[in-house]
Amino acid sequence: MGAVLIDGKQIAANCRNATAEAAAKFNAEFGVTGHLAAVLVGDDPASQVYVRNKERACEKAGLRSTLHRLSESTSQTELLELVQTLNQDSSVHGILVQLPLPAHLNATEILDAITPLKDVDAFHPENVGLLLQGRPRFLPCTPAGVMKMLEVSGTETVGKRAVVVGRSDIVGKPMAALLLQRGADATVTVCHSRSQDIAEHCRSADLLVAAVGIPEFIKGDWIRPGSVVIDVGINRVEDRLVGDVEFAAAAERAAAITPVPGGVGPMTIAMLLENTLHAARLQLQ
Ligand code: GUN
Repeated sequence: MGAVLIDGKQIAANCRNATAEAAAKFNAEFGVTGHLAAVLVGDDPASQVYVRNKERACEKAGLRSTLHRLSESTSQTELLELVQTLNQDSSVHGILVQLPLPAHLNATEILDAITPLKDVDAFHPENVGLLLQGRPRFLPCTPAGVMKMLEVSGTETVGKRAVVVGRSDIVGKPMAALLLQRGADATVTVCHSRSQDIAEHCRSADLLVAAVGIPEFIKGDWIRPGSVVIDVGINRVEDRLVGDVEFAAAAERAAAITPVPGGVGPMTIAMLLENTLHAARLQLQ
C-alpha cells in the first residue's frame, strides 16, 4: 500500500476532546449543558446502533442527550407533535430525527418542522440555503467531517479538481457546496447515477469523495496517482463493512486514503457534538 491512511478514528477522538473541553467551559460560564434530543422511529437495527453511538458520544463529551423512541406505527401527526414539543422545550438545543423513517411517514415534512436553530443535521431548507450562500449556521455533519479530515491531513483543496460521486441531500450536494465555498476553492464536479464516463471524471480528480452507497463502486484504476481519496460509503457485505471504493487497489495509487471502517464514520458523530454545542450557544438569551 502506497497511500498514507487518514485516521478518522484518531481525528474524531481529538475533535470530541476539544468539544468536551469547550462544553465544560460553556457550562462553567453560562450554567447551561448542551442538550441533544434524538428521535428514533421503529427498530431498524443500523439506526439503533447509530443512535446509541450518538448518545454515548454526547455523554462522554459532557453533553446531555435524550432519546425519544417511537414505535414503527407512529403516525405523521404524532411525530410532528413530538417535534413541536422539542422545538418549544428551551432545555433542548439540538433535535435529530434519525433517518430513514418508516415508509409511511413523510420525512421532508418532519425535517422541515424542526426549528432551524435546533437543526443540528443542517437539513432544514433555511440552513441549506445559508450554506449555499456561504454563511452557514450549521455545517452538515458528514461533509463537515470530511472537510476536517482534509484540513488535519494537510490536503490542499484550493484550485484542485475535486470529484464528488453521489448527489444525496445528506452528503453529495452539501459536500460539493463546502468544497466550492471560498477558502476551500476547489473546482468541483458532481457525478451521479446518470453521469456518463464516471471513470474518466474520477481519473481527473486530485480529490475524490465517494458517496454513492454501492460497495466498491469506484475501481482502483479510476484513482489518479497521487490523489486523495475520501470514502464516505459504509456498506455491509456478508459480515464485513466495505466502502464505496476498492480500497486495496486504490491505496496502491492514492497519496492518501480513508479506511472503512475508521475513516469518515467516526467524524460524523464528532461533528454532531460540535453542532449541538453550537446550537446551545445560538440559543443563549
Ligand atoms: N441516517 C444516516 N445518516 C444520518 C444523519 O447524518 N442524520 C440523521 N438524522 N439520520 C441519518
